[in-house]
Amino acid sequence: MADTKKRHFKKGELRSKEWFGRTDRDGLMHRSWMKNQGLPHHMFDGRPVIGICNTWSELTPCNAHFRDLAESVKRGVLEMGGFPLEFPVMSLGETLMRPTTMLFRNLASMDVEESIRGNPIDGVVLLVGCDKTTPALVMGAASCDLPTIALSGGPMLNGRWRDQQIGSGTHVWKFTELMKKGEMDTNDMIEAEACMSRSVGHCMTMGTASTMASMMEALGLALPTNAAIPAADSRRKVLAHMTGRRAVEMVKENLKLSKVLTKEAFENAIVANGAIGGSTNAVVHLLAIAGRMGVDLTLADWDRLGREVPCLVDLMPSGKYLMEDFYYAGGLPVVLREMGDKLHKKALTVNGKTIWENVKDAKNWNEKVITPRKKPFKKQGGIAVLRGNLAPNGAVLKPSAATPALMKHKGRAVVFEDIDDYNRRIDDPKLDVDKNCILVLKNCGPKGYPGFPEVGNFALPQKLLKQGVSDMVRISDARMSGTAYGTVVLHTAPEAAAGGPLALIKSGDIVELDVSKRLLKMHVSDAELEKRRKQWKGPPVHEARGWVKLYVDHVTQADTGVDLDFLVGNSGAPIGRESH
Ligand code: FES
Repeated sequence: MADTKKRHFKKGELRSKEWFGRTDRDGLMHRSWMKNQGLPHHMFDGRPVIGICNTWSELTPCNAHFRDLAESVKRGVLEMGGFPLEFPVMSLGETLMRPTTMLFRNLASMDVEESIRGNPIDGVVLLVGCDKTTPALVMGAASCDLPTIALSGGPMLNGRWRDQQIGSGTHVWKFTELMKKGEMDTNDMIEAEACMSRSVGHCMTMGTASTMASMMEALGLALPTNAAIPAADSRRKVLAHMTGRRAVEMVKENLKLSKVLTKEAFENAIVANGAIGGSTNAVVHLLAIAGRMGVDLTLADWDRLGREVPCLVDLMPSGKYLMEDFYYAGGLPVVLREMGDKLHKKALTVNGKTIWENVKDAKNWNEKVITPRKKPFKKQGGIAVLRGNLAPNGAVLKPSAATPALMKHKGRAVVFEDIDDYNRRIDDPKLDVDKNCILVLKNCGPKGYPGFPEVGNFALPQKLLKQGVSDMVRISDARMSGTAYGTVVLHTAPEAAAGGPLALIKSGDIVELDVSKRLLKMHVSDAELEKRRKQWKGPPVHEARGWVKLYVDHVTQADTGVDLDFLVGNSGAPIGRESH
């Protein structure tokens, strides 16, 4: 029987009271149907409801262990007197979804935003892992601004194949080159693919998933050590438990997302991204999250803050170790401590402490994996933002993954009009190309592909690979996988399909890249470019209905985060009208 005396609602205290704390018809309805799950009446006594936003899916193998992880979060919530309610949102699996998960990041963020705002939720735990699941969930939650804490699913155990360490993604590109050169056969490949993914978890290189997990920690949005504990390590479950506990406390403290995601927090994250040799995808995602929070973050901030940051972490794709090694060496707290003089030390984090309080005593257990500041793994860690008449609004390059000798280079352009043109011609023995050429790929940006895929590290011509050429300057309006490497200029803005000058470049034009001057220029006169613009046929035509139409009509460019224009900003979490 219900013990109504046990209710202790205080008006205006919790959003969930507007659903569960009423004695009218609507209160009856809200509680009654919930009770079909076997919930006793005291669960509706005014305790904080913690929504556990879950991206579990068997189609997202990196997040396939999340139902288990959610149980640990629930234990923590219950222990602190909260009421955990798990709910699913759209999951985005990097390896299966076509044409690219990035086409759906904003759609998933809308799912998250409306699921949180429309339901009796007081605080949120975001279960994130595979690349886009992290920004999608944070963007959606940011637009609601409730007390929110992120928990990453953790990286897979290190890949091992025939006694060599192999890394997710990074070895896909390496194996592809070996197969193109005829040095690896199908049997080798089938054996190696099982060795690469040998436990639950996401990519264990410093790819986009590990980068974004590190960003969660550097932003102060996840508990310390979130970035690196392997998914299969029991300590990941302990972190999940502690995350659940903390979510309840955050509601009681009214520690909203906007108190954590400040400009200072984003600046800390940019420094951290440089120091870990993080993915270029973090640029786009952090710009989009900042846009939802109303924080004025720009590409110029990335360049300014990243310029002096060395890469301390010797992890693939820039280096040789993997996330498991990173965890044993001390993980992100060590990196943040090393970069202390460049941090806003007072930035608040979800555990109620400042970022500096969290990391100041971190110990480095392996200086080969996390190199000391005075002897860094690579001198240049930050993301370089390039400008010039090929990318007036900016393009990005990751120096730590590039070939030093190519960072200042001038060459003849070999241009592919789109990905189909590239696939048709790249391995044609008659293709007029040599190792000094610059390969250019158009129409792979947000509107052009559409969806902004990770094709920017497109493979070199087979005939040059066979000659032993291992890198060339490549330019496109695409992204690249965080697990990839090479002297690759990405995210040119505006993109070709939006009428950016990339649309006008032709094979034979001379292109100049000078990373130290942050320059990306085609040596073509303004008059000639104007002539070409008049002949330009306009963007490719895509589907005329559904999500893709909405996306193409409203997506913004790479330099502002590739959000939909009408999703930028936030609306808080006001309680809507009743449904009946
Ligand atoms: Fe999911 Fe790499 S494929 S994190």
